[in-house]
Amino acid sequence: MVINSAAIRWHGDFLELLDQRLLPTEIVWLPVRNSQDAATAIRDMVVRGAPAIGITAAYGLALEAARMEQRASMSALAGAVETLAASRPTAVNLFWALDRLQATGGSLEGAELVQALTQDAEAIHQEDIAANHALGDFGASLLPQDATVYTHCNTGALATGGHGTALGIIRSAWQKQQLRGVYAGETRPWLQGSRLTSWELANDGIPVTLVADSTAGQLMAQGKVQAVIVGADRITANGDTANKIGTYNLAVLAKHHGIPFIVAAPVSTLDPALPDGSHIVIEERDGSEVRQIQGKVVAPSEVAVYNPAFDVTPGELITAIVTERGVIEAPTTEKVLAHLRQQ
Ligand code: MRU
Repeated sequence: MVINSAAIRWHGDFLELLDQRLLPTEIVWLPVRNSQDAATAIRDMVVRGAPAIGITAAYGLALEAARMEQRASMSALAGAVETLAASRPTAVNLFWALDRLQATGGSLEGAELVQALTQDAEAIHQEDIAANHALGDFGASLLPQDATVYTHCNTGALATGGHGTALGIIRSAWQKQQLRGVYAGETRPWLQGSRLTSWELANDGIPVTLVADSTAGQLMAQGKVQAVIVGADRITANGDTANKIGTYNLAVLAKHHGIPFIVAAPVSTLDPALPDGSHIVIEERDGSEVRQIQGKVVAPSEVAVYNPAFDVTPGELITAIVTERGVIEAPTTEKVLAHLRQQ
């Protein structure tokens, strides 16, 4: 089967990833032929965004099985699973996809295993697109008419199988003529907001205004934002949400200004195994990402840097979590677990 999405092209026996590090100035597709290629692409941010990472890991494992042909078994693939799992720690979708494929593979071997893993990776990709359209509609129903919203990082077609999570809500609201426009925070240090979100929205003709991250408070104080909508990398049982660094700042600001703070994510981002956000492993990345901007040195080379890629927003600051199954208002452990039980 061939599946083409914004950043992930699956050709049935071969994967290509759009190199998101080069956007918006260059369009370069990189080949992925095995699990090591997939893990390297995830680690190095060729592909990023929780659902897209999960999809890539699933294809990476299927490709590794195909490489082994008759020798393929889940035990022979244990090293590949380990390599993929070590690529980035925070987004649970990666581990969810690997667990799902391992369960699918079970005791199958050889060609049967290759076929089962390939079909399941394709299903994960397609299900994610469908989930985003569903949660997009649920989320749009929470917005007032003519809303201007603020978003952070990139949660669009590039970060997912397609349509997007927070950007999925934004796209759905725009299609329903509910939306006036979007403020996109630039999202230092990787600039996913300026390089990716403003590019995606502009390509769709959705009015977007790019702001430095530090502008969010001023915008809210001026009454220019009716909702903040963000994605998630991992949501624990009580609703605590790991997402791109800076998300927590926005949640505190939104609370202060009485603005709804909406988290959008597929159910595959919920991690009921962790009771609260204190258990989430937060990725820390190299200091050079902060000392430099796109290769240009902006700090003394020896200055100490703290560079967590994510922060945790307490569930009590979240107005609603939106998934493909519906809306969890004012999340609590009881509500999140009930949501997971509902089909
Ligand atoms: O470091 P990144 O670019 O992978 O971080 C991405 C985010 O934090 C997104 O908000 C999250 O993964 C949701 S993407 C639909």
